[in-house]
Amino acid sequence: MIVCVCNNVSDRKIRQAVENGATTLFELRAQLNVGTCCGKCHSCAKEVLRDALTNSTTEQAMVMCGALAA
Ligand code: FES
Repeated sequence: MIVCVCNNVSDRKIRQAVENGATTLFELRAQLNVGTCCGKCHSCAKEVLRDALTNSTTEQAMVMCGALAA
């Protein structure tokens, strides 16, 4: 799932960044440029980050981001 359209950042890239040590949205921004253009992806990026930190599934993040119906 693409989280940040402006910078073509997927949930997979965010999860990889977390596996490599990122723990904050600030760190994701520095590494992936997520949310550095229009900013519409902030809440979704936060949800995916939180889920990656708690090891929940991509499907759960997609539901939270509105990509899937609950
Ligand atoms: S969608 Fe992420 S900055 Fe625009």
